[in-house]
Amino acid sequence: MELMKLDIRKAGVTPTAELYAQAAAANKMLHTGEGAGNDFLGWVNLPSSISAEEIAAIKAQAEKLRSKAEVVICIGIGGSYLGAKAVLDALSNSFEYLRKKHENPTVIFAGQNISEDYTYEMLEALKEYSIATIVISKSGTTTEPAIAFRIIKEEIESRYGKEEAKERIVAITDKARGALKTLADNEGYPSYVIPDNVGGRFSVLTPVGLLPLAVGGVDIEALVAGAVEMEKATAAEVAIEENLAAEYAIVRNVLYGQGRKIEILGSYEPKLQYINEWWKQLYGESEGKDGKGIFPASVTLTADLHSMGQYIQEGERTLFETIISVENPAHKVVIEADKDNLDGLNFLAGKRISEVNRMAELGVQLAHVDGDVPNIRIALPAIEARTIGALLYFFEKACGISGYMLGVNPFNQPGVEAYKKNMFALLDKPGYEEESKAIKARL
Ligand code: PA5
Repeated sequence: MELMKLDIRKAGVTPTAELYAQAAAANKMLHTGEGAGNDFLGWVNLPSSISAEEIAAIKAQAEKLRSKAEVVICIGIGGSYLGAKAVLDALSNSFEYLRKKHENPTVIFAGQNISEDYTYEMLEALKEYSIATIVISKSGTTTEPAIAFRIIKEEIESRYGKEEAKERIVAITDKARGALKTLADNEGYPSYVIPDNVGGRFSVLTPVGLLPLAVGGVDIEALVAGAVEMEKATAAEVAIEENLAAEYAIVRNVLYGQGRKIEILGSYEPKLQYINEWWKQLYGESEGKDGKGIFPASVTLTADLHSMGQYIQEGERTLFETIISVENPAHKVVIEADKDNLDGLNFLAGKRISEVNRMAELGVQLAHVDGDVPNIRIALPAIEARTIGALLYFFEKACGISGYMLGVNPFNQPGVEAYKKNMFALLDKPGYEEESKAIKARL
C-alpha cells in the first residue's frame, strides 16, 4: 500500500528548478553533516539503524512493565513526552478508557506540567491500580519531570519497597550526564540511552518513544518500518523532485516568503490531535529563532470549524493550511434512513460517516482556497503504525530541509532557557542569588 501522498496543487506554489536545487543542497547537508547543528543529526539515519536486537530488548522491557502494572506513568516534557503521547493517541481506541477490560496497561503522562491539582488528582486515581513508571529526560535536569519523578518514586517505594521499585522504574536519559543518570545508577534502575546526537524533538524513534509505545501495545516494529521506508524515500540519492519532504519544505518556505507567517496543521481525525502538538514542537523549536520562522498552529476538524473557522476563512491573510487527510477509516458506520425524517437528514441515508467527513474536508478546502488560504494536503491511506512511522520521519526530514532553507540552525533551542533562569531565580535555587535579587526587584 502506498505510504503517503503530498498534494500541493492548491497551495499556489510551483517548485522551480532553483528551489529544488536549494532543497537538494539542504537535504545533502543533513546527510553529509556540513550544516549548522551537525552534532544533532543522529535522527537522519536512525530508523534504518535500529536493530532487531534493540527492538527485542525494548519489547522485553515493555513486557516486564506490562506484567506488573495496570497503569504506567510516563514522565517527561517536550521532546521527551510529545512523540509517545502523539503516537499512542493516534493508534489507540479513542474510548479505551470506557472499556471494562483493557488489553494493555493504561499509559498516562506526568511531568509535562507543574500543576498541583493534576498531580494530586493523578495520585488519587492511581490508588486503585498497580503502577510502574518510565522517567525520560535527556538532560536529566529538567525541573518539571524531576518534580513528578520525585513524587512517583516515593509512591512506588512506599507501596512496593525499594527492591521491587527497581522492577517498576525505568529511566531513559543521557549515557553519562545529568541528575537522572546519577540517580538511576545509584538506585539500580534499568536505563536506556538517548543518543547524544539526537535532540529531544527528534527522539520519538529512540527508546524515548519506543518503550512507552511498546508498553501501550503499539506495534513498534511496524512504526519503525514505516519510518525506514520514508527514510529511504527522502534520502539524498533520491531525485529531489520525487522527495516529498523536500517538496513540503519548498512550498512552506515560498509561502513564508510571501508573508504567510502562520501554518495551521489540521486533521479530520481527532485521534491525530497530538500529532499536531508533536509537530508544533518540532517546527516551532526548530525554526522559530533569529527573528524568523513560521508560527506553527493547529486545528482539529470539523470541531474547530465552529471556533477557528471564521478566522481562517476571513481573518488576516497571513495563514496557510496543511491538512493530514486519512483516506480509509478503520471501522464502518452507516447513517440509516429514518421514516419520519424529522431531522431532514435522509439525504445522507446509506452513506458512511467517512463520506460525509470527506465532503466536509473537500468543501472546506475549496472554501479556504477561495478565501485566499493556500492549502497543502498530506494523504495517509490509513492510520496505522506503518503510516504514522512514515509521517513522523517525513515531518522530521522536511523540518531539517526547511530549517536549512530558512537559514537557521534547526537543531538548537537557545530560547527555551530564558524562562528557566527566571523561574530558578524566583525559587531561590542555589547559584541564582544575583538573578534572584534582580528579578524580585522587578515584580
Ligand atoms: O526538543 C527538545 O530538546 C526539548 O523540547 C526537550 O525535549 C525538553 O526540554 C525536555 O528536555 P529533557 O529531555 O532534557 O528533560
